[in-house]
Amino acid sequence: MTAIYARNPAAVSVRPARPDDVEAIRAIRNHAIEHSTALWTRTPQTAAQGVAWLAAHLERGSAFVAEAGGEVAGFAVYGPWRELDGYRHTVENSVYVREDRHGLGIGSALLTALIAAAREAGHHVMIAGIEAGNTPSIRLHERFGFQHAGTLPEVGTKFGRWLDLTLMRLPLS
Ligand SMILES: CC(C)(COP(=O)(O)OP(=O)(O)OC[C@H]1O[C@@H](n2cnc3c(N)ncnc32)[C@H](O)[C@@H]1OP(=O)(O)O)[C@@H](O)C(=O)NCCC(=O)NCCS
Repeated sequence: MTAIYARNPAAVSVRPARPDDVEAIRAIRNHAIEHSTALWTRTPQTAAQGVAWLAAHLERGSAFVAEAGGEVAGFAVYGPWRELDGYRHTVENSVYVREDRHGLGIGSALLTALIAAAREAGHHVMIAGIEAGNTPSIRLHERFGFQHAGTLPEVGTKFGRWLDLTLMRLPLS
């Protein structure tokens, strides 16, 4: 387990996810689906989908959770950016922190661990696809050296409006 300093007084630990984290992760993910434009769907993940989704990440060692006060306060994963094999050295990330724990350094702690793991696994580039109005996420990724690679206007929709997708890119090797 990697102990990482966070800005709140209590220590935050980031560790590889385990199968029994699935419900805590699913709750954070489904909260974002219901209330935000971080995930471009309004369909919550079912329990069975959550298990299958996490299992794929556990198999490749690409899921991490942050624990604070004995609870899962956030998670981060990476997976293939696109499916065709020519894209195999590029991964896409996702970072989610429980809403009541935002701004405490937990997202930074998770991204630190995730980038290190992707480098260790030999990947070449990490992509973040972020809703263009999601300033906290864009700032977070900028702080880690992700560079803006362009914004695609109106490629998504949620809550009755068009969404623009900002792509950010971090070289890993
Ligand atoms: C984006 C998110 C993961 C950031 O996690 P966090 O734990 O709150 O972030 P941290 O406390 O580590 O802050 C890291 C940096 O993010 C940026 N940031 C965080 N919250 C911010 C806010 N409300 N406004 C502007 N920038 C913000 C800042 O640059 C901050 O560094 P700084 O305080 O030194 O300037 C979190 O807000 C979140 O889970 N949001 C909802 C889900 C989501 O949008 N995920 C990303 C999908 S692409």
